[in-house]
Amino acid sequence: MRTIWWEEGLKMIDQTLLPEKLVILEVKTIRQLVEAIQSLRVRGAPALGAAGGYGVALAAQKSTFSDSENVIQEMEMAGEMIRQSRPTAINLAWGVDRVLRAASRCEDADEVRERALLEAEAIAEEDLAVNRAIGKNGARLLEDGDRVLTHCNAGRLACVGYGTALGVIRSAVAEGKDIQVYACETRPLHQGSRLTSWELSQDGIPVTLICDSVSGYLMRKGKIDKAIVGADRITSDAVFNKIGTYSHAVLARFHQVPFYVAAPLSTFDRVLQEADVTVEERDPDEVRRLGTVQLAPRDVEVYNPAFDATPLEYVSALITEKGIFRPPLMPPV
Ligand code: MRU
Repeated sequence: MRTIWWEEGLKMIDQTLLPEKLVILEVKTIRQLVEAIQSLRVRGAPALGAAGGYGVALAAQKSTFSDSENVIQEMEMAGEMIRQSRPTAINLAWGVDRVLRAASRCEDADEVRERALLEAEAIAEEDLAVNRAIGKNGARLLEDGDRVLTHCNAGRLACVGYGTALGVIRSAVAEGKDIQVYACETRPLHQGSRLTSWELSQDGIPVTLICDSVSGYLMRKGKIDKAIVGADRITSDAVFNKIGTYSHAVLARFHQVPFYVAAPLSTFDRVLQEADVTVEERDPDEVRRLGTVQLAPRDVEVYNPAFDATPLEYVSALITEKGIFRPPLMPPV
């Protein structure tokens, strides 16, 4: 099953309900899509790229105008709302812009609608192929018997399917390698415990769930051979990924554990540098509460960045669909 797809409308797995329930959500309006993105019903950079593309296509299908200019104007307005919904993962704006660009070449309204949907479908299809290629390239870096640390969820749930970091692990397992995964729970929204440990268990890949702060201790004991994560944006100087990634990268460097980042070319930002990127700050209650349980005083000051930036010097290799690049080498445009 894909994470997000079009089947008589826009459908997605509601990731906020996993691992307890696997519920399919039908998204009927742009407002509903923005809510789904902000509350992480759909999440992960490549899945957000697909959501951006499908969102603009949805706006085109919903538009009642019969001339292309007005349909495109509605798509642009929808695109702006979607783009603004989460600022850090570059794939979201990339997906929006790609569908807008494709549709802008069409002359009549029906052609715009059809082209928009075809382009959104192409993004989704390509994501699957790209992840397979990332997996195949990255599997070369994993050896039989490796114990691999990962953070957050860079698996099939973060993409249209297969996954980036988890795609590399899946490919290594498919080649017959015995891989043991350590999944960090990923406070405060628990993408590691709720999603990574769930999808790996579903595939029968051995996974041990750990608290985020356990990674250094495991490395010190020589129990982690490699670390591999995904990315939300890769600038010329840093990798933006889920908060906590930087700490794992520094610990990996200290303990001489290779630290790999797996991401498609659509996650690379050739324009901005670390200092220019907006890191999303999320609701303090994500830290103060756990569901209905109050974990901290209701009014305690909270700092809750969703992402951090890891300087490229801590990254042993970038694994992409075009091959493996060891910083400062970057993939060609
Ligand atoms: O806040 P999220 O769950 O959208 O954050 C996702 C991540 O940080 C992932 O590691 C990243 O998007 C890579 S997904 C292949």
